[in-house]
Amino acid sequence: MARNPWFETVAEAQRRAKKQLPSSVYGALVAGSERGLTIDDNIGAFSELGFAPHVAGHKANRDLSTTVLGIPIDFPVIISPTGVQAVHPDGEVAVARAAAARGTIMGLSSFASKPIEEVAKANPNTFFQMYWTGTRDQMIQRMDRARAAGAKALISTLDWSFSNGRDWGSPAIPDKLDLKTMVKFAPNVLPHPSWLLRYAKERTLPDLTTPNLQPPDGPAPTFFGAYYEWMQTPPPTWEDVAWLAKEWGGPFILKGVSRVDDARRAVDAGVNAISVSNHGGNNLDSTPGTIRMLPSVVEAVDGQIEVLLDGGIRRGGDVAKALALGARAVLIGRAYLWGLAANGQAGVENVLDILKGGLDSAVLGTGHASVHELSADDLVIPDGFTRTLGGSALAAATAGGRPRATKTTPRTKNPIG
Ligand SMILES: Cc1cc2nc3c(=O)[nH]c(=O)nc-3n(C[C@H](O)[C@H](O)[C@H](O)COP(=O)(O)O)c2cc1C
Repeated sequence: MARNPWFETVAEAQRRAKKQLPSSVYGALVAGSERGLTIDDNIGAFSELGFAPHVAGHKANRDLSTTVLGIPIDFPVIISPTGVQAVHPDGEVAVARAAAARGTIMGLSSFASKPIEEVAKANPNTFFQMYWTGTRDQMIQRMDRARAAGAKALISTLDWSFSNGRDWGSPAIPDKLDLKTMVKFAPNVLPHPSWLLRYAKERTLPDLTTPNLQPPDGPAPTFFGAYYEWMQTPPPTWEDVAWLAKEWGGPFILKGVSRVDDARRAVDAGVNAISVSNHGGNNLDSTPGTIRMLPSVVEAVDGQIEVLLDGGIRRGGDVAKALALGARAVLIGRAYLWGLAANGQAGVENVLDILKGGLDSAVLGTGHASVHELSADDLVIPDGFTRTLGGSALAAATAGGRPRATKTTPRTKNPIG
């Protein structure tokens, strides 16, 4: 009997993705840099927070809808940009369609495998993401193209620090896929015939180029070509951030903020929203889990801009916890990648439904009629849970004091958790 393609949790989607994908592709999605402390804390920190549910007085009707940068969405979960070159032949277009079908926003990576024009057609509420890479002229050309395609906002991701070792080993990824490379990678690929079959049906091979970085007068760079350009680009200053926001001239999100001083500078640079993020733990390992840093960042920006969060969201309850601690909405990365690998567009819709259902249960249990009513009062927050970064932590630690909202009681073996 054919297996039911529907899955009931993100954990099950991940199990299916692991079976479905060649180990090198699966390994690239798991990612997590160095010791993996940050990726573990992103997820683990949510488990430390409890709910404080009511027993009566629940609301029969609950409104999960909200807006992000003025765009109405059916529930506060949006797609975080990821390059998903080899997960599924429909790639980011399938993700965009799923997000549109479930009434939410698509974030498209500039390193993605599908062009912004196709993705924005599949979901009119698409945000385009860029790293600080190339010359200013190249950045302007890429922004012009995204604007012309209908992108509704720009996400500028600035937290990347080119950390590249993983204790468990990085998967080998080819620069391009041709027959010769396929033969070389055959032992990795052949145990996963259904993955191969999906591409065979579309008469294509995984596209390892970056069409959104294609110059007007040449071919799209390969993924590694694009990465090399990025590594060669001098890192941005806060003036550069202000320039980028001004040049885009529309809604602008700075993704990757973890410190309160950076959050305040982002406000000064003219950004409209920030995402408290550590790149899903793929970056500077030992950065604390994002949910720990959220309350201090929310306090620092004091309502002047919208605060989003990404990292570690695997359940609707996680979404509720982030909202209760001040996030306007969350972005998801791996959760939808597992869904895409497990069952294409329907798998991404499945994941979004799981998160929406779990969020609704949390809103019901905590006795609210709307996601906007969630607050810290709905949570059980253990001592020492939060972290304030950039708030003179060293001074507080050496003086025996502590920065606001930071408690230092060690509770877990994880030195950052
Ligand atoms: C495989 C993979 C590729 C990613 N590519 C990008 C990218 O191109 N641009 C970007 O801003 N973030 C990228 N990210 C980070 C995600 O947007 C997001 O911050 C992260 O996945 C959130 O954590 P989560 O996976 O626990 O939800 C990537 C993450 C993963 C796992």
